[in-house]
Amino acid sequence: MNLKKTVTLLLVNIFLCIQVSAQQAAGAQDFRAGKGHFELNGKPFLIRAAELHYPRIPKKYWEERIQLCKAMGMNTICIYIFWNLHEQKENQYDFTGQNDVAEFVRLVQKNGMFCIVRPGPYVCAEWDMGGLPWWLLKKKDLQVRTGKDAVYMSGLKKYMKKVGEQLAPLQIQHGGNIIMVQVENEYGTWGDDSQYMAAVRDVVRSSGFDKVQLFRCDWSSNFDRYQLPGVAGTLNFGAGSNIDEQFKKFRQVNPDAPLMCSEYWTGWFDQWGRPHETRGVDTFIGSLKDMMDRGISFSLYMAHGGTSFGQWAGANAPPYAPTVTSYDYDAPIDETGKPTDKFFAIRNLLKNYLNPGESIPEIPKPVSEMVAFQDLNLKNFASVFDNLPKPATDEDPVTMEFLNQGWGSILYRKTIPATGKKSVLHIEDAHDYALVFLDKKYIGKLDRRLNEKNIELPSFSKPVQLDILVETTGRVNYGQAIIDRKGINGNVILENNGKKDILKNWKMYALPVNLAAENGLKYKNSQASGPGWYQAHININRIGDTFMNLTGWTKGMVWVNGHNLGHYWNIGPTQTLFLPGTFLKEGSNEIVVYDVMAKDNRTISFTEKPVYEIIADSSLLHNRGGEQPDFRNVQPVATGSFTGEPGWKSTSVKPQNTRYIALVALNAQDSKDTSASLAELEVTGEDGKAVDPQKWKVVYADSEEVITANNSADKLFDHQESVIWQTSLSKQTPYPHTVIIDLGEEVKISGIRLLPRIDKSRKGMIRDFKFYISRKPFTFSKK
Ligand code: GLA
Repeated sequence: MNLKKTVTLLLVNIFLCIQVSAQQAAGAQDFRAGKGHFELNGKPFLIRAAELHYPRIPKKYWEERIQLCKAMGMNTICIYIFWNLHEQKENQYDFTGQNDVAEFVRLVQKNGMFCIVRPGPYVCAEWDMGGLPWWLLKKKDLQVRTGKDAVYMSGLKKYMKKVGEQLAPLQIQHGGNIIMVQVENEYGTWGDDSQYMAAVRDVVRSSGFDKVQLFRCDWSSNFDRYQLPGVAGTLNFGAGSNIDEQFKKFRQVNPDAPLMCSEYWTGWFDQWGRPHETRGVDTFIGSLKDMMDRGISFSLYMAHGGTSFGQWAGANAPPYAPTVTSYDYDAPIDETGKPTDKFFAIRNLLKNYLNPGESIPEIPKPVSEMVAFQDLNLKNFASVFDNLPKPATDEDPVTMEFLNQGWGSILYRKTIPATGKKSVLHIEDAHDYALVFLDKKYIGKLDRRLNEKNIELPSFSKPVQLDILVETTGRVNYGQAIIDRKGINGNVILENNGKKDILKNWKMYALPVNLAAENGLKYKNSQASGPGWYQAHININRIGDTFMNLTGWTKGMVWVNGHNLGHYWNIGPTQTLFLPGTFLKEGSNEIVVYDVMAKDNRTISFTEKPVYEIIADSSLLHNRGGEQPDFRNVQPVATGSFTGEPGWKSTSVKPQNTRYIALVALNAQDSKDTSASLAELEVTGEDGKAVDPQKWKVVYADSEEVITANNSADKLFDHQESVIWQTSLSKQTPYPHTVIIDLGEEVKISGIRLLPRIDKSRKGMIRDFKFYISRKPFTFSKK
């Protein structure tokens, strides 16, 4: 071996850290971001972290999951803290039992691992409202993630103080195992207000985290949007990323900083009605190896995702896309706690990068095993209509938060006069799924995911009782749509005979999410059906973990002995709900299913494996069969070419009003490649800022991959740079590839910005493109 190689190896070894486990070195220690590397007690330390979320894992399984992470080769566990979990009612904090985060952190220390804590206040995490409490929404003009809203700031200060009381004594400098605490979360994706971030940093410090190293996380494309002195910077990115590209700009701006990917996405989350997400083992391992070879610290998001029990699963927008209950994430440890191929690939990789004297422990014995019970028929039924509480009344429909309700459903009722012919009911904004009944007869539904707002009513010659049952899925957890009040937002309008009547004087019946668990429902052994609670008891003599299969049911939630398992929905991709054995007991167990309209099938079955099946709906695709857009009579307002280099490309347009935009990709970087892909598309307004895409809708895309992956054209404006639009991989069609977007209203635009895919793959990288705009819908012609 030549001298240069020996020295390099030696340096790499030093760089790859001197392994000191949290357990070995009990007592006060020090950890900080040093020059070029993190330092534990003055020596270089490489963080190999695994993210776990304590509410997504039943408490009894916490320790086994921590040990599994250690057996995967990790030295640190990274956690979020969820403000809305601990303060479900304003000023009432709960850090006990399943919420005892200090106990979780101590378990991590007991197992010889360090801890990274991310207390928000905003966390994203596919968690209801990104971790912010729903009761903040009782303030009409609420603003969040800004120092300008006194209610938000005072709530966050009180919450952070409580977190400090729980966890500040566990800072490494005080003899605990917490090596770093994060300030806010990916703030660069939201704003550029350095003052707000400084205020959050100061709140964290003054809440007791006086000594610990603070850090922030962002993306390579936006980390420089704000400044935050005294706080280390890290970047987040996904499986298959090009590591040198990811850190290129960061290195230039912070030449002395240690490098860390604080969220290396192992997989991705699933959304209702969209294909199941996976990320291949090889792609994932490749970039992890690249990080190890470069001595870059990392945290696996998620190492084990677990389950978003109850009402905690969040949503993305635009377009509104609620996240499913399973947070399996295609992570190395699956939803049930079993190691997967990805787990073993990581363990095998990391074995090559251990420090002298360090070893990876054996894989722990499973704490529980999978079982499948007999099918169960739910004979008892309690109809929503027979179990209504006393109503609130108001002239206009009131959202859930103003009725002091966090989650669940609301029934909005009023009598409407005879119409004598067909009419249209228009609900301005029902969050999130509205079922319309006339005299308790089901008429139809409005699904927010599909932007449905109108429903045709049959003719009726006498006054009828109109019921609108609005059921909620998760609050938006990412982007500006996070102010997401539930129930009916805005007016309900009856369009009859050309006349539009805003319906007034409503009765509103609150059906809070845990009504079923709080008893008092009047069950009848009955074959009646409709929205309501279906109940039965199951006898169990061997407890274990299982999946409850809801195939045949429609949409709703399940409780087992009062534990809310979360939402199910027949559109998939998940048809099962994870039921941990910890929720069961030997003997009789109560099972309650709330379904918005279960019909004949009242049986549930149990399986040892999850069932994935998607019912494809038309919203998945935006092409128009035999038609194609016709641009013969329109001139492009911009043309351009990508160079093949990564990063945003901006093109200016003569400022003008438009409602519709069309991007036509003419060819790919590789002339043989017939597919197209693009990560993001932004429109620049008159003020030079990106136009908010809340109202945007894809009206046409000639091709989209929606079967093997979730790559529909709306991914162009979802603000997730790692999630892309890609043309179909199975049904390849030649260029040009076109996407047309309706901006929802006229906007004065001054340019467009486009971001090619940011992973290592170059598939579908566009070269030349044209850009069209129009105030009227584009015309289409036969192919
Ligand atoms: C970001 C957020 C996380 C999570 C992931 C996607 O990185 O910081 O909370 O939402 O995206 O799973």
